[in-house]
Amino acid sequence: MRCQPIRFIVTAVALATATLASSAELTAATEAVERGRHLVLIGHCNNCHTAGYVPANGNVSESRWLMGNPVGWRAKSGTIYASNLRLYVQNMSEQAWIQAMKTVEWRAPMPWWSVRELTTDELSAMYQYIRSLTPAGAPAPSFLPADREPPRPYNQLPDMS
Ligand code: HEC
Repeated sequence: MRCQPIRFIVTAVALATATLASSAELTAATEAVERGRHLVLIGHCNNCHTAGYVPANGNVSESRWLMGNPVGWRAKSGTIYASNLRLYVQNMSEQAWIQAMKTVEWRAPMPWWSVRELTTDELSAMYQYIRSLTPAGAPAPSFLPADREPPRPYNQLPDMS
């Protein structure tokens, strides 16, 4: 019985330490998500990956961000569509996301030449933000070969060759 207060104090200290550690982790995670959101905004990701974002001058509810865009980009080689990034990140590790953003050369106008300049920390924050949006929406339409007329409206890329 005499040990009881000591045991209580030990337990209380252990609990307080655990709570402090987990609240510090929580704060770090929240900060990463906030930073990722900022990077998505200044990286123009919504301009292409969010339907209607440009015509609405960016005035689209965050609940509809990054769900892909049905307005295609037509070039000499065919028509591509900006992907649903909320679905894209779901079955992907953070490591795989960073690797892809650093190395894959997607088709223009996806600015892979710019996103590869992001640091590992920035890419990690971006990943955490996009994951926090939760999976939603349908996959963007598939690539259309050059001889297929895409549904209107679409963006026409100039032929510079
Ligand atoms: C100017 C338009 C544009 C902007 C800005 C843009 N993207 Fe894209 N993105 C695209 C298009 C179009 C594709 C499809 C490319 C393809 O099919 O090769 C794409 C593809 C991707 C993919 C590949 C997904 C998959 O399904 O394989 C990722 C990841 C991606 N974009 C991330 C981003 C991020 C993150 C940003 C912001 C930093 C961004 N994009 C900004 C147009 C854009």
